[in-house]
Amino acid sequence: AYVITSPCIDVKDGACTAACPVDCIYEGGRMFYIHPDECINCGLCLSICPVDAIAWDEEIKADARDFIEINREFFSAS
Ligand code: SF4
Ligand code: F3S
Repeated sequence: AYVITSPCIDVKDGACTAACPVDCIYEGGRMFYIHPDECINCGLCLSICPVDAIAWDEEIKADARDFIEINREFFSAS
């Protein structure tokens, strides 16, 4: 699934939410989160983010790996 990472924090551009065909990107606190079970992996949000915050989880950089879990936890807590 696609994952939102640290560049989104306090930027929250929101362009990704308009691009997502299944509305699986949710606002929460200082960033937005992609619901890992609702995301259909279409990739439409990827290039739209102006700060390149969205990553494919299997290719995520080591320093952003925590955000896979952070996105997941956001939805399990809500
Ligand atoms: Fe939405 Fe597609 Fe991005 Fe998943 S990859 S969050 S379905 S736009
Ligand atoms: Fe954040 Fe980029 Fe979307 S800054 S809200 S991931 S367009």
